[in-house]
Amino acid sequence: MAIAIYPGSFDPITNGHLDIIERGSKVFDTLIVTVLQNPRKTPMFTLQERLDMLRTTTEGMKNVEVDCYSGLLVDYAREKKSHIIIKGLRAISDFELEFQMALVNRKLDCEIETMFMMTNNKYSYLSSSIVKEIASFGGDISALLPPDVCKKVMQKSQLRD
Ligand code: PNS
Repeated sequence: MAIAIYPGSFDPITNGHLDIIERGSKVFDTLIVTVLQNPRKTPMFTLQERLDMLRTTTEGMKNVEVDCYSGLLVDYAREKKSHIIIKGLRAISDFELEFQMALVNRKLDCEIETMFMMTNNKYSYLSSSIVKEIASFGGDISALLPPDVCKKVMQKSQLRD
């Protein structure tokens, strides 16, 4: 039984994340999408809001679970008896940090492999941060996010004005 963890901030989930979840769920028996803390980021959405959006978006995907963890990713993977971390790679700009995180995680636990899935080129420009920036200036984000998530980002952006 191959269990893979797809970790991230998911603040919020984008169509790019969803593409990785759909493809990852076809490769592994179980894919656990886990919200973790990224100390380099200040989230727009609470943990509960991010979990709710992930659950709604992945509803109906039978082998996909949504979870959260506060701590090291390798500790979480061990807890879940998983040896595989999945990451989406968009561009060379992602590579440096992802390479560092993969090596750090391997140093922390050499049993855990990080596997990269190249993003669908439709979404290679897409990130949660860019979506929030477009929304904050009133731009159209409807093609970039699942519909329910799009509504939530627009509401949040208006509240912040
Ligand atoms: O979506 P993001 O923000 O790029 O995801 C980054 C994340 C949350 C996966 C990363 O910051 C992480 O693994 N956080 C958990 C803490 C940890 O294990 N840090 C050591 C590995 S660098």
